[in-house]
Amino acid sequence: MKFFIDTANLKEIDQARSLGMLDGVTTNPSLMSKESLFNQKEIQKHYISICERLKNDENVSAEVISSNYIDMIQEGEKLALLHPRIVVKIPMTKNGIQAIQYLSNKRIKTNCTLVFSAGQAFLAAKAGAYYVSPFVGRLDDVSYNGLKLIREIKNVYENYFFKTKILAASIRHSLHVIECAKIGIHAITSPIKVINSLFNHPLTDIGLEQFIKDYQSKINN
Ligand code: E4P
Repeated sequence: MKFFIDTANLKEIDQARSLGMLDGVTTNPSLMSKESLFNQKEIQKHYISICERLKNDENVSAEVISSNYIDMIQEGEKLALLHPRIVVKIPMTKNGIQAIQYLSNKRIKTNCTLVFSAGQAFLAAKAGAYYVSPFVGRLDDVSYNGLKLIREIKNVYENYFFKTKILAASIRHSLHVIECAKIGIHAITSPIKVINSLFNHPLTDIGLEQFIKDYQSKINN
């Protein structure tokens, strides 16, 4: 399973890279707004800096902020021109699906975001989206089992051999990561804190402390 980091912060991207846990980056307008970028030039430079931190087969999802079809495709084309590693992230709306269709026909990779149902995921695949991003945590927040949606989408995609890759988003904790890996989807995107939490287990800490204590009690004396 590919491990993407859900952030626009360069330090966090570098940290994930140093842990060997980076296959790509996803951003969204809220994440970009945290990075003290005050105009289009700075935003473009920032996307390029993210892309330059990645390897050839890795990519960064950059989201359009327009909502009408023409503006979406123009913004999408501009984002795609910034760097070959950009994947254009488009929200799941009627205009968004049309924009995905247009950009996919032009061989521009897209990520259909804000997906909360199997029906929406079906439309994204029909339109030719490269990724579909179902939001697991936000569904859990409204008392729907987000992981159930991941299973449903996988089932639908397998039935029809859709090529669209499932990139589970809104990942909140390590159990989401483990369950997605068990379901067998292409990728997840998570904040750095979830990546870090995967390292932790109290029995590892207790075991390590005991090993060192035992060793020092004999070897140092
Ligand atoms: C998806 O790509 C989004 O950027 C993201 O995963 C949303 O996560 P959140 O629900 O934690 O904001």
